[in-house]
Formats: sequence, structure tokens, C-alpha cells
Amino acid sequence: MTPIIRVHHLHKHFRLTRNRHGLLGAVRGLIAPEYRTVRAVDGISFDLARGELVGYLGPNGAGKSTTIKMLAGLLVPTSGEIVVNGHVPWRERQAYVARIGAVFGQRTTLWWDLPVSESLDLLQHIYKIPAQQFQRNLDEFRQLLGLDAFINTPVRALSLGQRMRADLCAALLHDPDLLFLDEPTIGLDVVAKERIRQFIQHVNRVRGTTVILTTHDLSDVEKLCERVMIIDHGRLLYDGKLEFLREKFGGKRQLVVDFAENYSDAPVDGAEIAGRDGNRVTYEFERRVIAASELIGRLSSQYRINDLEVREPDIESTIRRIYEEKLLENASDAAN
Ligand SMILES: Nc1ncnc2c1ncn2[C@@H]1O[C@H](COP(=O)(O)OP(=O)(O)OP(=O)(O)O)[C@@H](O)[C@H]1O
Ligand SMILES: [Mg+2]
Repeated sequence: MTPIIRVHHLHKHFRLTRNRHGLLGAVRGLIAPEYRTVRAVDGISFDLARGELVGYLGPNGAGKSTTIKMLAGLLVPTSGEIVVNGHVPWRERQAYVARIGAVFGQRTTLWWDLPVSESLDLLQHIYKIPAQQFQRNLDEFRQLLGLDAFINTPVRALSLGQRMRADLCAALLHDPDLLFLDEPTIGLDVVAKERIRQFIQHVNRVRGTTVILTTHDLSDVEKLCERVMIIDHGRLLYDGKLEFLREKFGGKRQLVVDFAENYSDAPVDGAEIAGRDGNRVTYEFERRVIAASELIGRLSSQYRINDLEVREPDIESTIRRIYEEKLLENASDAAN
């Protein structure tokens, strides 16, 4: 099947004037400015199939927003190719934006002084959305996003969470095939985040909308994305399953066991004791050495057990390790 998004050797370089120190430097800078180039996106290629929901991750300054802006037709690439749904985003901007939706967590796309409802009405006219379709979508999104409490409030008076919900609604009223989300949960509390996650999931699953999501919140990714791409310094370091990263770089799994009686020691083959608290013992084990079920079988055949829990290595610290220790720099073959 043809991919809905095709990105090939994409580059975006920004040219900045270099600041020189002191008065003499400033004068020189005016006469013969020196430039330096920031390679924000430095040769990225990927395909997305229709209906996918992919996490686009990377540390600050990695090039995520720059990529999203090019995909959304807001920035022109320095070189390389983007074809989305048969369109070249920056070349056919008007026809293109009518087919996509974008939400930038850092700034609203709505009119600051207008009430939410009037902003949405304006979008109906701009996108020429048929009245029936507009009403049907608005009814659905109002309910799913709980917009009614603030639909008559000017955008400037909305809380961050309310504004994000209004922006999401605005991005989807015209039934776009694609949704680009740049940090849609930034700065929100856990409840607001969860609401937005559920909404994104609904849009992807029920409407079949293809979604690219950037976020620093790995719970977003864990709940929503099977596939992730990780970039740094404008280069793609990984494109594959989130689960693979956890398995490869996540470190040990834990099994927490509440024994029915106090064992002074409770050794078991295949796992190490990492902690002890009364009748509760925490074991650590490696997925490739022993399966959780096997370990549990061994323990329960030797001891009387009240309760147990398997804890997966948490993805937050796994990804942090990947960034900090640059674990993926040489692992791109492992990605596929
Ligand atoms: N308009 C611009 N002019 C000059 N440099 C820019 C511009 N936009 C981005 N950059 C630079 O390009 C690089 C990538 O920025 P980008 O905003 O894409 O990163 P990001 O991955 O979205 O980071 P964050 O997680 O902080 O949002 C950074 O070094 C940034 O300073
Ligand atoms: Mg960004």
C-alpha cells in the first residue's frame, strides 16, 4: 500500500549570523557578517501508513518541531522530499491545509479575542465545511472534549488545558486525514493529559486519522504509540517498536512477592534478590534469561505466596538513558 506520508532525505538548515564580542566585533559583524548553520533536520527519511499513530521523540532541540512544521507546510525544506497524501506540503499550501490538522501545544491557532464558538464558526467558513458535517463533528467533539463549559469564553481567557481542547477540536472539524500534534499535553495536569490522550486515541481508532505526535511525556507515548521514531541532532536514530527499546535498553524486570510466611532467605534460580521488606521480597530478572511465568512457577512450587506483581522497566528512565548515554548512536541496524 502507498504510504500516506513519505519523507525522503529531508533537510532543514537555518543560517544564523554569528555574534561577535565587543564594539569592534559588532562593527565587523555589520560590515562582513559571519554565518553559522544549524542543521535542525539533517537527512531524515521515513514512511507512514494510513491509520498509524506514531510518536516522534527526541531531546530538546533535536529537530522535532522543525520536522512537524515542514510536514504541516509551515516551513520549506532546505532539501529532500515530503509527499503527504499525494501533496507536497509547502508547494500547494492552501489545498494541503484543508486536508490536514495541526496542533502546536506552545501556541494556539485560534483567534485570541474571539469566543471559542466564533473561532470554530470562522473555521467552518475558511475550510468551507458543509453545515451538516460541521454540526456533526462539533457535537461529537464538544461532548468528547467537554467544551461546553467554556465555549463562549474568549480564547485568551482559557486555561491551558481548555485551550488545548479547543485547538484539538478546531484541528479536526474538517475531517482531515492526518493530524500533526506538537506537544499537545505540555503543561497539563494528569487528568487533563488523560482526557487528551483518550481523545487522540479515539480520533485515531474510530476515525482512522493518521497521527504524528511529539511529546516529552513518555506516558503519552506508552499509552498511545506502538511505533516510535527517535531523533537527535536532526538525524533519525531509531524507527521501530517502543517495546523493542524497553526490551533492549530497559534493564531488568522486577517481581515483587508477598510471601505467606517469613522466609529468612528465599532464593530462586534465574533471579536475584534486590530488596526485602518484611514478608515482601523484590526480585530482579532479565527477560532473555527467564520468563515471568517460569519464575513465578518456580517460586510458587517452593514457597507459600500471598500476592505478586511483575514490574516492567519504566520507559521514562529507559528513554532518558538512551538520550544521555547515546545508546542508539551505533544501534541503527538493531532498529530494524
Ligand atoms: N527559526 C529558526 N531559526 C534558527 N534556528 C532554529 C529555528 N527553529 C529551530 N531552530 C533550531 O533548530 C534546532 C531544532 O529545533 P526544534 O524546535 O525543531 O527542536 P525540538 O526537537 O522541537 O525541541 P524541543 O523539544 O525543545 O521542542 C534547534 O537547534 C533550534 O535552535
Ligand atoms: Mg519542539
